[in-house]
Amino acid sequence: MDKRTAVVTGGIGGLGTAICIALARAGRRVVAADLGGRQERIDAFLGEVDGLDVRFQALDVTDFDACGAFVQALEAAGEGPDILVNAAGITRDTTLRKMERAQWDAVLSVNLDSVFNLCRHVVDGMCARGFGRIVNISSVNGQTGQFGQTNYSAAKAGMHGFTMALAREVARKGVTANSVSPGYCETAMVMAIPDDIRQGIVDRVPVGRLGRPEEIARTVVFLSDDDAGYITGANIPVNGGLYMGF
Ligand code: CAA
Repeated sequence: MDKRTAVVTGGIGGLGTAICIALARAGRRVVAADLGGRQERIDAFLGEVDGLDVRFQALDVTDFDACGAFVQALEAAGEGPDILVNAAGITRDTTLRKMERAQWDAVLSVNLDSVFNLCRHVVDGMCARGFGRIVNISSVNGQTGQFGQTNYSAAKAGMHGFTMALAREVARKGVTANSVSPGYCETAMVMAIPDDIRQGIVDRVPVGRLGRPEEIARTVVFLSDDDAGYITGANIPVNGGLYMGF
């Protein structure tokens, strides 16, 4: 069987990098799609993945047509995505009473519209080939709501609604769609929270520490495995026990 191609949006980010590395180590050809403007970050990423089958592709995930052209080019090269990991995400934390329209729009377009933009273009190829694994990186804060994150919590909860609906639509075609909901992990996004607030959050995590990006990545590898075909429409929390549900 040909090597499977995995696309990871937000691929050079905190969780994205760990996900790219773990997928490549699991034998995937990995395309890390992320904004092209930050050469220093891109170079650092390429250094981290050196020696692995991981390449970088500049992509603005908020641009529907650009996402279409990106997927089409992969299909034309015989590398139609078998695995799509939607990990692109940003925060613009502030209470709703202070939130500007632009802060709402930015978070909804990067975190949620991007999921539509990519999934819309990959599902036809996945269904035609009879195999696909879509993994959407949601958040514990989509499940619980977080103070200062009406935008982010709405987008992350929306991702899982999307996941469940899509899972039903493509289940008969060998394509699964699942969410992973990380808790607070050792990423730049979480380290940007003021120290005292972050410490207060960590104090409430039963495991007693931040999560490691590798702990999210291993869950993505698990869900995107060929043998994971009976898991679909699920949300897998990886949050150190911060939120336990049933
Ligand atoms: N619950 C209830 N009340 C709270 C509160 C909370 N968690 N936090 C603050 N308040 C209260 C304050 O005590 C204050 O009350 P008074 O007006 O009576 O004094 C009021 O709300 C306003 O608080 P602030 O002055 O702190 O508000 P701010 O606008 O300066 O800051 C904030 C708000 C920027 C959102 C800040 O609270 C913050 O950074 N919170 C953390 C948000 C967070 O967890 N983001 C996660 C980012 S990482 C991520 O998203 C990854 C992932 O998926 C897990």
